[in-house]
Amino acid sequence: MDSRCPAVKKEILIRSKLDIPVVRKELRKILNLLGQIKDSKEVMLLTILDEISKNILRHGKRGRVTIEALNKEGKTVVKIIGEDVGKGISDLDEALLPGSSEDGGLGMGLNLIFKLADQVRIASNITGGTYIEAIKWI
Ligand SMILES: Nc1ncnc2c1ncn2[C@@H]1O[C@H](COP(=O)(O)OP(=O)(O)OP(=O)(O)O)[C@@H](O)[C@H]1O
Ligand SMILES: [Mg+2]
Repeated sequence: MDSRCPAVKKEILIRSKLDIPVVRKELRKILNLLGQIKDSKEVMLLTILDEISKNILRHGKRGRVTIEALNKEGKTVVKIIGEDVGKGISDLDEALLPGSSEDGGLGMGLNLIFKLADQVRIASNITGGTYIEAIKWI
């Protein structure tokens, strides 16, 4: 991938299920701007985006996703940020265990994000909501 990628940034509010296809479309648009990227990378990024967005809706109620393409250390990276001011994660270590879900879900979303992204940062507390940032080199 050409290291001189166009810098792009898009913020999308996540308020209902209807916003999920919208956010996917925005990611696809940004990837198209970057030119040819492997199908496997696109699928991984869409999966990361989906898990972040679904967690916002299901656990945080509403929030915002930011998708950004930028140059980092001479390479192109896509950064996906999810932010909400919902109830937060009371025990992050437990939430990260495979199969850990508060409401009967598979409990695999956060694990998948860690497997598919090159870098993940999460900050969450029960008063301030949740911030998750996933970066993938493309
Ligand atoms: N944005 C968020 N706000 C509050 N809690 C969250 C948030 N994201 C994740 N969590 C907590 O972390 C747990 C694990 O999340 P994870 O995405 O791995 O599983 P899940 O959403 O329960 O199920 P699924 O496999 O369908 O994603 C959730 O059950 C929830 O308790
Ligand atoms: Mg989830």
